[in-house]
Amino acid sequence: MHRTETTSHGDADEYRRRSYRNWQSAAAGWEREREALQSALGPLTDWMLDRLAAEPGQTLLELGAGTGETGLLAARLVGPAGHVILTDRSTAMLEAAGRRAAELELANVELRVLDMEAIDLPDAAVDGVLCRLALMLLPDTAVALAGIRRVLRPGGRLVATVWDAVERNPWAPALWEVIEGLTPLPPARPGGPGMFSLGDEGRLETLLSGAGFGEIAVEPIAVEWRYPDFESYWRTQSSLNGSLSQLLPTLPQEERDRLAGAVRGALERFRTADGYRAPGSALGIAAR
Ligand SMILES: C[S@@+](CC[C@H](N)C(=O)[O-])C[C@H]1O[C@@H](n2cnc3c(N)ncnc32)[C@H](O)[C@@H]1O
Repeated sequence: MHRTETTSHGDADEYRRRSYRNWQSAAAGWEREREALQSALGPLTDWMLDRLAAEPGQTLLELGAGTGETGLLAARLVGPAGHVILTDRSTAMLEAAGRRAAELELANVELRVLDMEAIDLPDAAVDGVLCRLALMLLPDTAVALAGIRRVLRPGGRLVATVWDAVERNPWAPALWEVIEGLTPLPPARPGGPGMFSLGDEGRLETLLSGAGFGEIAVEPIAVEWRYPDFESYWRTQSSLNGSLSQLLPTLPQEERDRLAGAVRGALERFRTADGYRAPGSALGIAAR
């Protein structure tokens, strides 16, 4: 097992356990908030599918797939002769992805519990790998990238997205400033793991070339979170955040109201004539 730059073995293992609990807890919210998520994250999906340029009959692997939005779109592109292996470490996320695959009547999708830091597939097993917003959550991204390269067929593509630097995602601190200290939120700074730990183009290029990838492209993709009112903001964001979704039910109503009120104040800077608009940025990654 490798050590990360800033995390000891024990810390990394504790982080992995906490991260698993958080995603198990967040799965119901990610399933319920599918539309809000897709409307904000659609530009990431479009960028990834465009760069992947999947062809009918191909086999694709989605890592950290969550409820599977991206992989299920890719399943349509590879068609009935193709195959998408949709994977996540969280069983609750995969169950949600399975429900969505059934709803969309996609028969070319296989669901698998799989840890991105230990990809248990044969060498050169897939034509392409997709990973939306998960690489930055790992204690050891280099190990995951080496595994991805190993399972890709020669010339196969990796397409992924990660959050850009926290400074370019001011919507996140607006929430965290208020709840910090109440819940063990993942670190928001480079050196992670955590949401914003890979928001650095140079570091991504170094990691990718270190894992043996070529034809590397890293590009910013603009994101905008839009909400008609505070209630829809709070419902969506508190459901998507695993720490918050575990914390809130344990608090008395008045404490929940106090928190929501404080977050509402922090969001004032994003208020517009028709609700709230919070800008953000992701980094798109494509490599062979
Ligand atoms: C931010 S969510 C993104 C989900 C999905 N890709 C999307 O964009 O809707 C991150 C996902 O990565 C998964 N994840 C975190 N660590 C993982 C690991 N080591 N191996 C596999 N999946 C992991 C989580 O369970 C969660 O579903």
